[in-house]
Amino acid sequence: MDPAALKELEKEMKNFQVTMGHIEGVPLLGATCDEWDTIYNFQAREDDILIATYPKAGTTWMQEIVDLILQEGDVQKSMRAPCYVKVPFIDLVPMKPMPTGVELAQRMASPRILKTHLPINLLPPSFWEKNVKVVYVARNAKDCMVSYYYFQKINKGLPDPGTWDNYFSAFLSGDVPWGSWFDHVLGWWKAVDKHQILFVFYEDMIKDPMHEIQKVMKFLGKDLSDEVLENIKFHTSFQAMKENPMTNYSTLPNIVFDQTISPFMRKGIVGDWKTHFLVAQNIIFDEEYKKKMEGSGLNFHSEL
Ligand code: A3P
Repeated sequence: MDPAALKELEKEMKNFQVTMGHIEGVPLLGATCDEWDTIYNFQAREDDILIATYPKAGTTWMQEIVDLILQEGDVQKSMRAPCYVKVPFIDLVPMKPMPTGVELAQRMASPRILKTHLPINLLPPSFWEKNVKVVYVARNAKDCMVSYYYFQKINKGLPDPGTWDNYFSAFLSGDVPWGSWFDHVLGWWKAVDKHQILFVFYEDMIKDPMHEIQKVMKFLGKDLSDEVLENIKFHTSFQAMKENPMTNYSTLPNIVFDQTISPFMRKGIVGDWKTHFLVAQNIIFDEEYKKKMEGSGLNFHSEL
């Protein structure tokens, strides 16, 4: 970021107040009517690829995989810009002087890779009208909660999460930005047969990244050699992405993402919830989980 823009951003952030609005009952950042209209009326293109996730499900990881597949494994090309520039986040509210995701996307040549955290019922209709391919990444709720808790601490554009205890209740009741984890994953899961949606699990990506990368490649209609795929696997490993300034968000100043509190590339593992959930919280969580998920056919990794 150039020094003048950084100065302006610092000035803006000093006065910045996180505001949460509700659209159809879903807590969304900012979300004044005007902002929401711009997002909802976003014009998708036929060859867009949309990465849809509940926050902290592995969005950035999938962004890099999809981009490297489109770039046929060319790492230099994939490092042309930070991940939040090359993959516009369409539901990002304005944070001056940074362009909004919609603005970035409108200026971008096709084929575009786009990112959203919107629940399916709030997705701009043009994505369905253009029959856009969607890669949905789901991550188990408990790890999402832990990751989101730290993320809300570091991201100054999000509400402070408060204590872990309070956050546990807020997350469970869906009172966090982009709403309920349950509604999100179930909504997208139920739509899998109706649209071009590839449903991928973070836990599977951890267990067998090559298998999941190949699945994404086939879904995107590409055919890459094993050597190229190995290269993609290597450059999208947790360690490589943690060290890559284009993926680790170190290009954003601390006033936006304060990574002295916790790194964006934090742990990248399955089961970190076990070091955070109290026994009583786990019981409460499991009861709620059963009520909401039973019969949905949506199963996360068995060892959770
Ligand atoms: P943790 O906070 O549990 O470490 P998102 O991109 O949706 O915000 O998700 C961020 C989460 O995905 C973080 O989880 C981050 O560490 C993890 N992550 C990012 N890149 C990863 C990778 N290459 N391998 C494994 N996990 C990754």
